[in-house]
Amino acid sequence: MNKEKSVKIEELRTKLNRFPKVCLDTFLTPIVRLERISDDLEIEVFVKKEYLNGVPPGGHYAHALEYVFGDIIANGYISVIHGGPSQSNQCAMVTAASTKYGLKTHLVLRKQLPNDLSDRGNLYTDQLYGADIRWVTAELGPEIDGLKKEWYGELSKINGERPYLFEREKVDALSCLGMLELFLNTYEQLDVQGEIPSLIYVVSCGPTQSGFLLGTKLINPDIKIVGVREIPWDAQGIISKQVNSTAETLEEKVRVTGDDIVNYPEFVGEGYGLPTEGGAKAIKYFAEKGAILLEPVYTAKMADAFLTHARDGTIRKGTKVLILHSGGSPLTYAYSEDTYGRLGKSLKEFAIQNKQHD
Ligand SMILES: Cc1ncc(COP(=O)(O)O)c(C=O)c1O
Repeated sequence: MNKEKSVKIEELRTKLNRFPKVCLDTFLTPIVRLERISDDLEIEVFVKKEYLNGVPPGGHYAHALEYVFGDIIANGYISVIHGGPSQSNQCAMVTAASTKYGLKTHLVLRKQLPNDLSDRGNLYTDQLYGADIRWVTAELGPEIDGLKKEWYGELSKINGERPYLFEREKVDALSCLGMLELFLNTYEQLDVQGEIPSLIYVVSCGPTQSGFLLGTKLINPDIKIVGVREIPWDAQGIISKQVNSTAETLEEKVRVTGDDIVNYPEFVGEGYGLPTEGGAKAIKYFAEKGAILLEPVYTAKMADAFLTHARDGTIRKGTKVLILHSGGSPLTYAYSEDTYGRLGKSLKEFAIQNKQHD
């Protein structure tokens, strides 16, 4: 790496060090070349195995939460309130982080999909860690955020408890720092391996892409961050705002507009948390050819986009591509029946076939 880049990375690390941070057991996860997939697609495909990172159930969000919990612990909170879909990776990671630091977790969880209340996947670990769960029927976004606030009010009234309320803007601002740090670590690692890619695929509608995009703007603008959103929100608006405010926080001059954000909307399917046919096919492909397990809510949608782009020529032959496998492993199993079904082999048929073999 040239001197200018390594000096810049150290300067950014010094700035990041000004923020309180806890340790959620993160480490430098491997980046490996997917040999058979690279041969098949005639593209150099690498994967960063962030699903291995952090307190279990694990995932790249551990980097974000190291800064969020840094803030929580520094300000002396003894409990937190978060919320989202019942199989939320973030809620599961927040619960794990709270547990590590001896805090109580209150979760507002959405009861809407067939997987809700299934006691599997992330919901299993939420309960194992002892989260206090309140079930609601509400939309993600402002509706659930409102219910979190309502609960906060109730708790303060009942017993004077003032939990740390996970408010989107405040938490996303800290999360972007963690994602920028993950980018810096990843960039150095790629440099040591001599494998700087032209494209990095991420699944994101927020801090992941924001941190990575800011990182490329500051360190190596030749790398293009290709985002695929998991939720039908205005990724261009959200991400450009986050990149600019993080740059401002770190006293960096970078500014972007919505036009600078590459983020594909068409792989979400019917909505957040709802698997797609393309996602199921991508799960099978990466499992069979790469020994990589993807889940249908996040990483499979990104892999569907990547495979589509690899096959339709959007990604040119010979291009070096890094795929960020950001986690969500419990969803692989929580949604396994659905994935079987979509692949034309329902669990039921499979069970009958197996019986015939007995
Ligand atoms: C596995 C996984 N990947 C990616 C993301 C995307 O995160 P964001 O949209 O906040 O960047 C999440 C969010 O929870 C996640 O759980």
